[in-house]
Amino acid sequence: MANVARKKLIAGNWKMNGLAASAPEFVRIVGASHGLKGKVDLAVFPPFTLLTSFATASRGAGVLVGGQDCHDKPSGAHTGDVSAEMIADAGGQGVILGHSERRADHGETDAEIRAKAEAARRAGLVAIVCVGETEAERKAGKERDIVGGQLAGSLPDDAAPAHVVVAYEPVWAIGTGLTPTLDQVAEMHGFIRAELASRFGEAAAAEFRVLYGGSVKPGNAAEILAAVDVDGALVGGASLKAEDFLAIANAAG
Ligand code: PGA
Repeated sequence: MANVARKKLIAGNWKMNGLAASAPEFVRIVGASHGLKGKVDLAVFPPFTLLTSFATASRGAGVLVGGQDCHDKPSGAHTGDVSAEMIADAGGQGVILGHSERRADHGETDAEIRAKAEAARRAGLVAIVCVGETEAERKAGKERDIVGGQLAGSLPDDAAPAHVVVAYEPVWAIGTGLTPTLDQVAEMHGFIRAELASRFGEAAAAEFRVLYGGSVKPGNAAEILAAVDVDGALVGGASLKAEDFLAIANAAG
């Protein structure tokens, strides 16, 4: 499929890490972002407690800041939850949805993730929707079935490249130091793009960004990011240090 101008996106998922003392690390990323402008898009998803301060620190720079989850309702009696509108109000411009840790820890279903993606759209946020198979599912040769099902169930019917990004994150590669072979990455990304084409049309599918996530590090970023149909990375552990995150961003740019 023709590769239209899909600028690579390097997104850092800080998960449940980061205190106020971590701000200088983010400020370093913001400082370096000016040199990367035009070459690669950067995003950081800190815990909610740091969202406002990071959004303020990135104002005028090219780093998108967002949340790691949202509720599907704009407000209401949902103790402990945060809405897409609240993320936008705090200065966030994006949200990660359906991360495998949320699917596992909180039993999030595809239908819930889809409702959250609709909420993100309503609030004007870019949604990074995560999909990926477990080790047992891959060993059983079911990775296409699982990922195809997650895409069908999690993406809203009006998903479009301007506000939805897909992240392929094999669960067995997250935080383990293991990565799929480059052939496996290219195969799954090609499969995802074909699924997007059959649902949203070839033209839209050529514009959707499909990120790879799972043990991306400075040492393996260049080869993963060069794989066909890989439009960036969702980075966990290696996004916590500005030096490593920026090395990955430079490998993309
Ligand atoms: P990792 O996490 O880079 O630490 O493997 C990736 C993710 O969970 O998004």
